[in-house]
Amino acid sequence: MEYKIALIGCGNVGEGFLQILYEKAGWLKNQHNFEAKIVAICDKFKGSLIVPEGIDLKKLLSLLARQQRIDDYDPTTKMVQVDPLDMIENIEADVICELTPTDIKTGEPAASYIRKALRCGKHVVTSNKGPAALFYPELIKLARQNHVFFKVEGTVMSGTPVFSLFENGLSGNTVLSLKGILNGTTNFILSQMEEKNLSYEEALAEAQKLGYAETDPTADVEGFDAMAKIMILASVILDHPLRIEEIERRGIVGLKLEDIRQALQKNERIKLIAEIENHRGQITARVGPKSLPLTDPLARVMGAQNALVFNLDPLGQIMIQGPGAGKKETGYAILNDLLAIHRNLVSLQSHLK
Ligand code: HSE
Repeated sequence: MEYKIALIGCGNVGEGFLQILYEKAGWLKNQHNFEAKIVAICDKFKGSLIVPEGIDLKKLLSLLARQQRIDDYDPTTKMVQVDPLDMIENIEADVICELTPTDIKTGEPAASYIRKALRCGKHVVTSNKGPAALFYPELIKLARQNHVFFKVEGTVMSGTPVFSLFENGLSGNTVLSLKGILNGTTNFILSQMEEKNLSYEEALAEAQKLGYAETDPTADVEGFDAMAKIMILASVILDHPLRIEEIERRGIVGLKLEDIRQALQKNERIKLIAEIENHRGQITARVGPKSLPLTDPLARVMGAQNALVFNLDPLGQIMIQGPGAGKKETGYAILNDLLAIHRNLVSLQSHLK
């Protein structure tokens, strides 16, 4: 099956996703009968491109690698910047991949793009944490009303499949608590400070260079990114949306090498921990640095890795660990969601036969 896909936003995640599509196109067709045709891209900083017959990904990726604009793709038909809302409405596409940077306070402009796409009957896959954290119940309802899918795997734990694991492998469990490391940038910074003796500023600069940090990295280091992920987990997995004011939040700003060393002397390691507790339906959530004994499995999660410990009834404890940030890692989550939509549509069609 072929899917026409339009991208809103083409930063690190968009580029990572396009790279995977380019490298795996043949395999995806053979193994999954899945073909993706990128028909449009609209990026606030890099320009717009509409190619109904499908963009040549090799050519586009080489432009992006040279830091050129997307609208340099075909200089003879150079486009003026397109309004994403117009593009969403008018483009002939099955799926909109909404990959713009997160604004956790308003969820905009992504929330408006997503609402528009769903109302136009287009599936939406997003890595943007704002709309998923603030408006998940509304958006999933809108998707159902319009008989399309709204998928958010890339919003939490990057490419590590937390939502599909819960939806498929862990369904039927009640979540008693969730506790984890949900921000790759801060875990990377803390690990680099400890292992390479880097200062906080040096480690943050390295995380930005590697594409782990948000466009505005204060979201990472002040705990807003982990807080958004807790809000998404609460909505999607516990069906209990939380407001920003309900979550205690502290980041890692102000932590020094000295604090990390002192913790190690006590056989402990400082981690930015995000947690939700479910006391018989009473949900509490917090994000903040914690000094964990080195024997705690979360204390051993290093670099940009994330991990999440589910405490479940009846299953007990399950821990999932994997990439928590990165260009290709989050790009993979977009592909994972597209394949989930594809599988659902194929199974729907076979039931209708
Ligand atoms: N800035 C985020 C992080 C990216 O470091 O975890 C992935 O959501």
